[in-house]
Amino acid sequence: MDKRAAFAKLRYYLHMLRKNSPTASRLAQFGESVFTRMSRLAAAHKAVNLGQGFPNFDGPDFVKNAGKAAIDAGFGQYARAFGLPELNQAIAARFHKDSGIEVNPETEITVTSGATEAIAAVMLGLVEPGEEVILVEPFYDSYPAAVSMAGGVVRPIRMHSPDFAFPIEELRKAVTPKTRLILINSPHNPTGRVLSDQELSQIAQVAIDNDCLVVSDEVYEHIYFERKHRSISTLPGMRERTIVLSSLGKTFSLTGWKVGWAIAPEQFTQAIRSAHQFLTFSTATPLQRAAVDALNAPEKYYTQLRSDYAQRRDAMLSMLRNAGFNPFIPEGSYFVLAKHEPFHVEAGALSADEAFCEYLVKTVGVAAIPCNAFYETASTHGLEERTSMIRFAFCKDLETIQEAGRRMKATLRATLPETLGFKMDM
Ligand SMILES: Cc1ncc(COP(=O)(O)O)c(C=O)c1O
Repeated sequence: MDKRAAFAKLRYYLHMLRKNSPTASRLAQFGESVFTRMSRLAAAHKAVNLGQGFPNFDGPDFVKNAGKAAIDAGFGQYARAFGLPELNQAIAARFHKDSGIEVNPETEITVTSGATEAIAAVMLGLVEPGEEVILVEPFYDSYPAAVSMAGGVVRPIRMHSPDFAFPIEELRKAVTPKTRLILINSPHNPTGRVLSDQELSQIAQVAIDNDCLVVSDEVYEHIYFERKHRSISTLPGMRERTIVLSSLGKTFSLTGWKVGWAIAPEQFTQAIRSAHQFLTFSTATPLQRAAVDALNAPEKYYTQLRSDYAQRRDAMLSMLRNAGFNPFIPEGSYFVLAKHEPFHVEAGALSADEAFCEYLVKTVGVAAIPCNAFYETASTHGLEERTSMIRFAFCKDLETIQEAGRRMKATLRATLPETLGFKMDM
């Protein structure tokens, strides 16, 4: 075959390959999100959904009413790209109250469509192709996808059970001259860890010593149970190298509103805004207006939020223990992890955690998330650990948590050992 014919054949094969799998390679590896799949299975099997991390109760009336009023008052056109001026001010005021840090609302805050857009804007605005981003497994699933969209390279390090301590030695080893960002998340999804002052100072020291930027995902900043959440940006030398991300969704139980923000020193804010203006340009105007009222809520709103979540956490922990699990105790966020090892399931073609979650949703009628979804997809490093856990969300009313408990007790404890090759060894 001559050269031209060989090239034509190659082009044809590439064309057929692209036709059968049109998703660009930077995203193809991520496939359909496990949250979408588990929610679909939950609906199909009328399961109690403890999988996806959104509340099954509504946000507060004072915020919803502010949203309706904003629509009626004509806030119907594009907002300023980086946020309604009054929202940027409210974010700055709340951040000052929580952290003691003064930020300039005009030059250091960007309002985005949820923290998810902020994560993408950070990666696209700051990471050059080939630069490395350190992510701490297990992690929120949009992080590696955002790094990949920016052409960056994920360098995973890992928190290990049972205490999920921050892997500071791994971080020290993972930093190279190519490291652009270190991304941390506290309070943490999915482990429920709230990083201690000591852990934060060690991370800060690595960032300072290596002149790296830290992206701190603080969307669960107001949901903590023992130790108060502290932003790494408050540590000496960190304000100028930290990008803080947060969101209205978790604090005000309005995840569908998708109002988030990034707080960063001016030069990094400029980079974030250059991506944001072409991703979404601006975030829904009436919702931004209502977010101002939300952020100005009195302190008792935040205290009540924490005590409500403490009650749900305790209900979830005792429900899981009654069902036969030995859950890890979360210090913050609204997730709890548990190993599925008290129960044995034939995994077949699935990973052990997926097989267990499929059984749970289809036979027991409770949806949870297999934890393998929170680890780097491209690698199978430490497979046993990453497929040993499942995640339950307790942003659900007490009745829902109790109903899940009734189902688990009835099926997992009673009928499971005799069916489908499951056995319980408790
Ligand atoms: C750790 C973490 N970061 C970011 C987000 C996304 O926040 P938003 O809904 O504001 O995009 C989530 C949502 O589950 C999360 O768990």
